[in-house]
Amino acid sequence: MNRRTFLSLAALSGTAGTAGLAAGCGSGTRQHHPEPPPPLDLSNPLRIPPLLDPAREPDGVRRYELIMFAGQSELLPGKPTATWGFNGSYLGPTLRASRGDQVAMTVRNALPEASTVHWHGMRLPAAMDGGPHQLIASGGQWTPSWTVDQPAATTWYHPHPHGATAKHIYRGLAGLFIVDDGLDTELPAAYGTDDIPLILQDKKLTDRGRLDGDPLKGPFGILGDRILINGTYNPRFTVTTARVRLRLLNASNARMYHLAFTDRRRFHLVGTDGGLLPAPVETDTLDLTPGERAEILVGFTPGDNVVLRSLDRGLDIAMGDLDLIRFVAGDQLAPAPALPATLPAPPPIVPPAGARVRHFTLSGRDSINGRPMDMKRIDEVVPVSAVEIWEVENSTGTSHNFHIHEVAFQVLDAADRPTGGHKDTVFTPAHTTVRLAVQFGPFSDPVEPYMYHCHLLRHEDGGMMGQFVTVVPGTENTVPRSYAGVGHAH
Ligand code: C2O
Ligand code: CU
Ligand code: CU
Repeated sequence: MNRRTFLSLAALSGTAGTAGLAAGCGSGTRQHHPEPPPPLDLSNPLRIPPLLDPAREPDGVRRYELIMFAGQSELLPGKPTATWGFNGSYLGPTLRASRGDQVAMTVRNALPEASTVHWHGMRLPAAMDGGPHQLIASGGQWTPSWTVDQPAATTWYHPHPHGATAKHIYRGLAGLFIVDDGLDTELPAAYGTDDIPLILQDKKLTDRGRLDGDPLKGPFGILGDRILINGTYNPRFTVTTARVRLRLLNASNARMYHLAFTDRRRFHLVGTDGGLLPAPVETDTLDLTPGERAEILVGFTPGDNVVLRSLDRGLDIAMGDLDLIRFVAGDQLAPAPALPATLPAPPPIVPPAGARVRHFTLSGRDSINGRPMDMKRIDEVVPVSAVEIWEVENSTGTSHNFHIHEVAFQVLDAADRPTGGHKDTVFTPAHTTVRLAVQFGPFSDPVEPYMYHCHLLRHEDGGMMGQFVTVVPGTENTVPRSYAGVGHAH
């Protein structure tokens, strides 16, 4: 079969062998993968991204160096794959900083093309945010700095060049950025031992190990049948403690995960995108859409051998059960501290009486409120430190999600998911509206915008994105509505 034709069709079909097309995809023909991946035994030791945790220098600043470059990774054994990474050939180190730290980044771009680095989940000034206007030319560098001032959370970083984010992340550019605040002392915290990052990604790989698929084709772009966790294919983690904290990040282009263990063991959700929950929430499943993070606590007993998988829940972008990673517990496990009854959560986000309500309609896979992203247009002007209600209506027949830069929000009314957690990215199923209480930050800049967008990367690149600035209250009407900065604009 013609390869390009196959790829665009295969984008619809998800995992060969297990999945039929769910409703909403609009195609009646089932496509077959010519070489379905062999069954997994989940035996490869899970890679743990190295920590990049520089000491505070005499001037009080912690300095981080990241270099983006093209390299080769052995994603499948014996088959080198051309990939991109930060400080390595695939993904990037886990950055770590504490509330109150001054951080200074040097990001060098050794890629053959321009890119950016966005700090997804960080509360910082727009000029430091690394959105599409902070383009770093090939061969260039960028040196943002800010003071970390937010609750403990699992955030992440990734490129954001407009129209090419899907490609850059798909090739491997993503990493975690953990914020500590010294308050979560009752949770497991030994990185790589009982505090484990799990970066979930799906790929299409050719038989020779090449990254395959067109991130901008079809309704969702990439929907791969090979799962990588921290860049490890077919992974296993050896458990050595009676309770493990998992920091989950969905860094996939489009795939949504509906997580459960094969024995349906119960676990506790303790954190969402923007910080800890007020108390652990017991559950046996967890949804994670692209860009979202969750922290869970999982108990193990000696000799356990259990697989974390993603279940097909019949939504249009789940498609098929997928085994993700095996956990194998030794005969002796180090004891774990008791499960805390409450957690040091950030304070609730309470909209004031008469809070401004803004309505956003996800109106297509390339527009919001009927308009495609325009880097020269400022869509919304928000007073600094405001708490507003953002209503996000998905008027389409397929799933999307919604991410807002810089902010923390709480979901106000969604009966089906735990509320109370601070978030920056939320699932918006077809034909639903979610209401968010959004806390904006204190950084005023009438010129440089932040973004809000669907985090399905094909949609974000296609224009399902808008721009807002945060300004000194009372100056909203003086702000130019066309981008007046010097940043690169397409
Ligand atoms: Cu994770 Cu606008 O991004
Ligand atoms: Cu972001
Ligand atoms: Cu979308």
